[in-house]
Amino acid sequence: MAIDPNFERNREQVDEEDGVAVWGPVDPPETRGIHGIHVAVDFDICLADGACLEDCPVDVFEWMDTPGHPESEIKAHPTHEDQCIDCMLCVDVCPVDAIDVDPSRANRL
Ligand code: F3S
Ligand code: F3S
Repeated sequence: MAIDPNFERNREQVDEEDGVAVWGPVDPPETRGIHGIHVAVDFDICLADGACLEDCPVDVFEWMDTPGHPESEIKAHPTHEDQCIDCMLCVDVCPVDAIDVDPSRANRL
């Protein structure tokens, strides 16, 4: 299952972490929601492959601890999504399609 590109319509923003929007449902430790707006990562799909952190030319992502999550205990948090240049590398390299990037959402940051 890939991240829902229509998460803004289908989910509600329930929180903010490090200045990044969090879209529910959120029920830790098992359910962590989607993090981000311009660069969105579904924490419940991310399994900490790390390719997005390695390949992003402008270092948008940072590891965030998610202890007790069934997929992985760290996640790629789009901490610096405001720096994204829409190269789409992260979308291409993520093995589980956990990332959605939409330039049209950038002006909502
Ligand atoms: Fe980086 Fe992905 Fe944007 S690789 S520049 S966060 S499209
Ligand atoms: Fe996670 Fe995919 Fe990045 S599994 S760490 S979002 S490449």
